[in-house]
Amino acid sequence: MSGTTKNGLMHWIDQRLPVTATLEKHVTKYYAPSNFNFWYIFGVLSMLVLVNQILSGIWLTMKYVPSADEAFRSVEYIMRDVEYGWLIRYMHSTGASAFFVVVYLHMFRAILYGSYQKPRELVWLIGMAIYLLLTAEAFLGYVLPWGQMSYWGAQVIINLFGAIPVIGDDLTTWIRGDFMVSGITLNRFFALHVIALPLLLVALVFLHIVALHEVGSNNPDGVDIKKHLDEQGKPLDSVPFHPNYTIGKDLMGIAVFLIVFCGVLFFAPEMGGYFLEHPNFEPANTLKTPEHIAPVWYVAGFYAILSSVPDKLGGVIAMGAAIAILFVLPWLDRSPVRSWRYKGWMSKTAIVLFAISFVILTYLGGVPQTPENIIVARACSVLYFLFFLLMPIYTKIEKTKPVPERVTHR
Ligand code: HEM
Repeated sequence: MSGTTKNGLMHWIDQRLPVTATLEKHVTKYYAPSNFNFWYIFGVLSMLVLVNQILSGIWLTMKYVPSADEAFRSVEYIMRDVEYGWLIRYMHSTGASAFFVVVYLHMFRAILYGSYQKPRELVWLIGMAIYLLLTAEAFLGYVLPWGQMSYWGAQVIINLFGAIPVIGDDLTTWIRGDFMVSGITLNRFFALHVIALPLLLVALVFLHIVALHEVGSNNPDGVDIKKHLDEQGKPLDSVPFHPNYTIGKDLMGIAVFLIVFCGVLFFAPEMGGYFLEHPNFEPANTLKTPEHIAPVWYVAGFYAILSSVPDKLGGVIAMGAAIAILFVLPWLDRSPVRSWRYKGWMSKTAIVLFAISFVILTYLGGVPQTPENIIVARACSVLYFLFFLLMPIYTKIEKTKPVPERVTHR
């Protein structure tokens, strides 16, 4: 096709659908701060993993059978008899864990650099909605192979809703669609896992980016780059997102990520029982509880908070509060500066303690509950909540460092 015909075609399309204008607004003329660092790769990687999950999921669905009698066998069939079925399944199961690795790092970046602060509160809130959905999506998917952990995990999680006063019992029956976890539960979980939640997730990711591009990206200095513009109104401290970040940084990050991802996928897909738990290689048995029911690693932190409270309802409330409090983070931070680089020693200590306590909680959520473990889990749960609850105070009273006028490249 000659250049003119190509331009002619593009012109024809643009008059009917704003393809070029959209690409310019969001890619080639989206001016991103020039000081993005390592932490800024995880948004792109989250998108990559999302695509991986959707594609591998579609192919799994072609052979998976969503019935209590067939589900386990169909997964075994995919693993053993379907050509490259093992690869597709491991792409999906390793992808689930990879998703949480990159999303947790992505969220932590936002905490480090105060990306949730004004004017990016909605970006954060939509992000939190994505996080909640992602957890629900992972839980539903986990039930589908109908192994021992699928079955008993579903039992434990659904029963948590039973702790809610008055409506608890009815609610659990409504979720299961039956008086016990059964094939009916599996059917509805399948429908939600393959259609309802992925649709919502994709829609929310779209809104996440639109909201971000409306206000512009934050950066490691937390400096507002729109304060210094050139004659054309473009921020002086910015570069066009494409090709500077796409080719300049993202491709490299994606390559490194894929090397690690493939390393796990080909050499340690079960990751010693962390990514695929051993009891799940046995078919669901409604009469035999596995010896130790532990949640998968990515929700283990919240599970440890739940089980550190002796009372069931109290535990459910604590776990709910641990997630809910993240939603109001933008309104807890009263600091005049965004990035932790310029916050005072109190904020820095709080962030470090918060991160350490969350990692310890994640570890504790996956191991048997001994009296010592419970004490440590309680201490870490308290630290987790103090990070948020004291934030309005320490971000207000601490002495911050002067923020540079322009971004720094370090
Ligand atoms: C499927 C999951 C997600 C995807 C695909 C995604 C994608 C992205 C992308 C591509 C960006 C721009 C690049 C970057 O700043 O890294 C971004 C920015 C951001 N995301 Fe997400 N995100 C996801 C989940 C979340 C979650 C769970 C949160 C927090 C609760 C969150 C909070 C943010 C914030 C605050 C920004 C702005 C960062 C800044 O400008 O410094 N995202 N996201």
